Amino acid sequence: MIGTGYVGLVSGACFAEFGPTVTCVDVDAEKVERLRRGEIPIYEAGLEALVNKGLSAGRLSFTTELAEAVRDADAVFIAVGTPSRRGDGHADLRFVEAAAVDFDVVSNPEFLREGSAIGDFMRPDRVLIGAESERARAVMKQLYRPLYLNETPIVMTTLETSELTKYAANAFLATKITFINEMAELCEKVGANVQDVARGMGLDGRIGKKFLHAGPGYGGSCFPKDTIALARTAQEYGAPARIVETVIQVNETRKGAMASRVLKACGGFVRGKTVGVLGVAFKPNTDDMRDAPALSIVPALQDAGATIRAYDPAAMHEAASMLPGVQWCDDPYEVAAGADVLVLITEWNEFRALDLERVGQAMRVRVLVDLRNVYPPDEAVAAGFAYTGIGRGAAPS
Ligand code: UGA
Repeated sequence: MIGTGYVGLVSGACFAEFGPTVTCVDVDAEKVERLRRGEIPIYEAGLEALVNKGLSAGRLSFTTELAEAVRDADAVFIAVGTPSRRGDGHADLRFVEAAAVDFDVVSNPEFLREGSAIGDFMRPDRVLIGAESERARAVMKQLYRPLYLNETPIVMTTLETSELTKYAANAFLATKITFINEMAELCEKVGANVQDVARGMGLDGRIGKKFLHAGPGYGGSCFPKDTIALARTAQEYGAPARIVETVIQVNETRKGAMASRVLKACGGFVRGKTVGVLGVAFKPNTDDMRDAPALSIVPALQDAGATIRAYDPAAMHEAASMLPGVQWCDDPYEVAAGADVLVLITEWNEFRALDLERVGQAMRVRVLVDLRNVYPPDEAVAAGFAYTGIGRGAAPS
């Protein structure tokens, strides 16, 4: 397994759990040293236990020696970064190419969500394998044997189809989120409730209820980068993906518009005011800050003259250098102290049952901007808050 980032480390540990012997290779010697001691550089539920289990069973090891690791391997996975290439938005394959060795090539896209990556690996909806030789197909089948026995659907296809399927899946999910976000905007104008709209739509089995939670716009390491790469490739091949292009634009605009929502909730200005922020990671159960909506919202509020106090259960260390000038706190109540408005950006479980009375007492003014619809509006209003949610009744004027 070349690369010990989110995908490589989770996949390596999970394959070792399936039975094979896995050697994870990384160029970062310090990281390899830490992993050998069972220390996990990222926040992912269950990963530390799984890595340590693999280490003590002798089925999982870490090294910087690439040649040695691949010499006797039946399969070599390349799970290194594919960031957006500067300037043109294509996936930057430099790291993949640098790691590539001369073998049969298989495309085996992952469908791991951060925060539930191990469950997604062990119980996937499907496994997608693009391969062009019988030998390669046989090796992959053997690797995923436990899932074959579980009757997990395995889609065997070509390299091109496999790659495009991955992009299509992520672009479709990003479209679903963006669609409901636009419906949320309309709900605010016409006085409808987006959560009921999502439920009413989602109960139609053809639509499905997942990924219809309106919020501040999608972020993370996958949807933003994959939608851009797909749109770019489609353009170059003369088959523009206009829906995906629009999704990218609408999502960008939406992330930008969230700061104005806070401004409106504060009576039009935040200069000299203190804004409390709950959650900065792009979603709960991760410390990942890549393309997080907080990276648009917080600087915009700072530019408008606000002082920011913030707390995140896992991402503060990661966020500190990306969000300069923020006063980091130890818990939600400390964030609330002296604040003129509280903005909930990431729906961590520990923000779901706050003592609103205690929060309100700590604040200077009771204003709550709930960008994930965690709190029922009447509960917040009963605790004396002016409440702004997403797509539930009137927007602040
Ligand atoms: C996503 C896909 O869900 C995985 O299947 C895929 O393997 C992965 O990308 C990848 O390509 O590697 P991930 O980025 O970890 O996984 O996170 P998601 O749970 O999909 O959330 C992405 C973003 O959409 C988050 O910002 C989240 O807050 C937002 N979201 C999600 C919504 O705003 N509403 C929803 O209903 C769902």
